[in-house]
Amino acid sequence: MADRETDDVTGTETTGHEWDGIRELDTPLPRWWLWVWYGSIAFAIVYWILMPAWPGVHGYTKGLLHHSDRADVASDLHALDIQRGAGAGMMRKASLDQIEQDPKLQAYAQQVGQSVFGDNCATCHGVGGTGGKGYPNLRDDVWLWGGSLQDIQHTITVGVRSGHPGQRLSQMPAFGRDELLPPATVSDLTEYVVKLSGRPADAAAAARAAPVFAEQCASCHGVDGRGMQSVGAPNLTDGEWLYGADRTAIRGQIHAGNGGVMPTWESRLSPETIKALAVYIHANAGGQ
Ligand code: HEC
Ligand code: HEC
Repeated sequence: MADRETDDVTGTETTGHEWDGIRELDTPLPRWWLWVWYGSIAFAIVYWILMPAWPGVHGYTKGLLHHSDRADVASDLHALDIQRGAGAGMMRKASLDQIEQDPKLQAYAQQVGQSVFGDNCATCHGVGGTGGKGYPNLRDDVWLWGGSLQDIQHTITVGVRSGHPGQRLSQMPAFGRDELLPPATVSDLTEYVVKLSGRPADAAAAARAAPVFAEQCASCHGVDGRGMQSVGAPNLTDGEWLYGADRTAIRGQIHAGNGGVMPTWESRLSPETIKALAVYIHANAGGQ
């Protein structure tokens, strides 16, 4: 560290280091930089004092403010629990009609219903509940098992062909596959059903099928083909089809007697949640 001297050009002192004639200036740190640096140190010290900072063997320094994100989250969750608990408690006590008429409970049911529907029901009924082949549309006013609040609640609770002891149960016979009716009659019945739904059909075939329908089908679908919700038999006159509108689909159903399975939710969702779902579905469909 010899020869510190003053550089002629800049007037700054040199460090005394020199490499091949290049000398190093000892330029002082910029003032603003120094102040930021001192400021940072001061900030860090204040922060250590106020906030949790230093780890120890049995925990950490808590700081004067005793701040804790963990405690914040816990208290938020607790508040949410109280809020939800209150909502759930009110849902438990209120009847379905009361829930639907009370704007607050209605809003609560909509919120819970929508999120539970997305998690549990949308896989089969579609994201918006609009259904698909074999899975009924829950947004229209066509109902297999009834569209009142109570009907919907009951369907969700016990399911359809679900194995629940109180399940909604009915089974259309597989008229073709089980050879209950000859293929020609199945074809005639297909024309009859097409005619029932108000579309052009083979009149002679439909006439041949009329007595068969009265004998074999009316017990479930009704004499006029308008269906029967007590046995989940769809209305065949309304232009809404669970399995498809065309002759192939109709013949297929008369042949095979499909019966959709809707799970029971009694053991998986609380009664309040099922109420919320019923209100949610009822309010968003053309309810009955
Ligand atoms: C595994 C598929 C599946 C899941 C999951 C499912 N459903 Fe269903 N659901 C069906 C089928 C199939 C039917 C039609 C049953 C039939 O053919 O009678 C049905 C029928 C219904 C009906 C009666 C419709 C009517 O027209 O009467 C309601 C209401 C319903 N589901 C609500 C729900 C709700 C709410 C959930 C969620 C908690 C749900 N479903 C989950 C398959 C499912
Ligand atoms: C024991 C009651 C029962 C009898 C008898 C019955 N059905 Fe059905 N039928 C049903 C049920 C229940 C469904 C709906 C199946 C489902 O939900 O998966 C159905 C569905 C249908 C469908 C499909 C409707 C759609 O929307 O896609 C057609 C078509 C049909 N039946 C025609 C007939 C004809 C024709 C006969 C007489 C030969 C008949 N059914 C006899 C109960 C019955």
